[in-house]
Amino acid sequence: MELIITENYEEMSAAAAEIVVSLLKQKPAATLALTTGNTPLRLYEKLIELQQSEQISLRETTIFSTEEYLGISEDAYFSLYNWLKRSLLQPCDIKPDQIIRLKGDALHPDKECEYFSQQIEQYGGLDIIIEGLGTNGHIGFNEPGTKQNSRTRVVTLSEETKEYNFQYWNHEVPDRAMTIGMSEILAAKKIVLLASGTKKAEALYKALKGPVTSEFPASFLRLAEQLTVIADKDAAQLFMQEESVWQST
Ligand code: PGA
Repeated sequence: MELIITENYEEMSAAAAEIVVSLLKQKPAATLALTTGNTPLRLYEKLIELQQSEQISLRETTIFSTEEYLGISEDAYFSLYNWLKRSLLQPCDIKPDQIIRLKGDALHPDKECEYFSQQIEQYGGLDIIIEGLGTNGHIGFNEPGTKQNSRTRVVTLSEETKEYNFQYWNHEVPDRAMTIGMSEILAAKKIVLLASGTKKAEALYKALKGPVTSEFPASFLRLAEQLTVIADKDAAQLFMQEESVWQST
């Protein structure tokens, strides 16, 4: 595991962008799994800027959108895929055939999840997955109780997650969702976990220092050697003194 602690959110986002840039230089046709939430938004803005100034190109990539509320169509304002579309895919002119997403309104949600999982394999695995951290330790919508070997599936959202998600839309979210599984996350060639702000400090500490347990799924990420955690000082405050890897930007 590599831990990068940055001064602030802006620098956290810049450090993450650098990782994506370096991947795209090596592999223009990379597979990228991208989460939604507030944490990666500045990273996505940076990727848009980089593409618009022709420093990178996402045109050959395949993008996996890794979570969606159950029963929600892509056009719904509070579709997570729609959020990713607005915050990155559209401004970067990513074509529909470059996108693999979990269709929340699929007729057969379980089959949809299986299909998503198969697509990851068919594309030769994920070159990178960008993840945020839930205050309850979830990764994607892998909520407390998730098994390490869980696959992409339909899940029931915890009350904490539903409350947290309420703030995105000022609207209640469905009780269930689809999420990429823990096993597919752990199998990615590179995992980038982003954390920003004091509200993530306790969760980050538990993820990196607490027991590796289903009760706190983010702790499973420590089993992946290819994990890079990028946290700003506020998120990293509880263990900043203890870590040997320190990068001040
Ligand atoms: P946030 O959400 O990036 O909006 O804080 C992260 C998460 O709950 O996974």
